[in-house]
Amino acid sequence: MSDFLVRRMTAADLPGVLRVQAECYRSDLLEGMQAFASRLALAPATCWVATSCNEHPDLVAYLFTHPWPQGSLPPLDGVLAPSMHDDADAAALTWFVHDMAVAPAGRGAGLAMRLYEGALQAALDAGLRHSRLIAVQSAARWWRRLGYAPIASQADFACADKLAGYGPDAVMMERVLAR
Ligand SMILES: CC(C)(COP(=O)(O)OP(=O)(O)OC[C@H]1O[C@@H](n2cnc3c(N)ncnc32)[C@H](O)[C@@H]1OP(=O)(O)O)[C@@H](O)C(=O)NCCC(=O)NCCS
Repeated sequence: MSDFLVRRMTAADLPGVLRVQAECYRSDLLEGMQAFASRLALAPATCWVATSCNEHPDLVAYLFTHPWPQGSLPPLDGVLAPSMHDDADAAALTWFVHDMAVAPAGRGAGLAMRLYEGALQAALDAGLRHSRLIAVQSAARWWRRLGYAPIASQADFACADKLAGYGPDAVMMERVLAR
């Protein structure tokens, strides 16, 4: 099995992120460089990547996560302001798991879990105790393994219009975080 390095993301990783994204998502879900850069700027400790371990490392997987007000949703491909949650109490925020992608070359090696665990520790250190995500491309079954469950009433969710922006098969999921 190949070795991979799992570490925090930096701005220099973003071109590789776009390449992996193109390998992993259908076209209506693709996001631009500015949207990704704004998420990294908002929460650099909770955005992670995996690269191959050789002289010229290739990025093979990435994870964007950030704090976000509970009951609200960041827009797909939207640019987030750097201070969007500066005044908020950690209890009013959720750890929003925005985008996990592993290129076909890295799949089945547990990389997604390693990225998730690295980012989760940073989220817990920041005081976050709740997490939400939007499962797309039939990934809800995979997220269930990590303890996420669909929120009770998707249609009643206050941000149903923004959820629709993630496609007709998008499922809002959540879990409680515990140390
Ligand atoms: C979902 C994804 C991140 C998992 O990455 P991975 O590195 O293969 O994950 P792991 O190695 O931790 O787990 C692999 C296991 O998950 C299963 N799995 C992978 N994708 C799955 C999915 N969409 N639904 C259900 N199970 C899935 C595999 O069959 C495998 O099962 P096994 O352990 O019984 O063999 C990866 O498949 C991916 O990038 N998909 C495309 C992008 C995407 O849809 N991301 C999620 C958006 S919410």
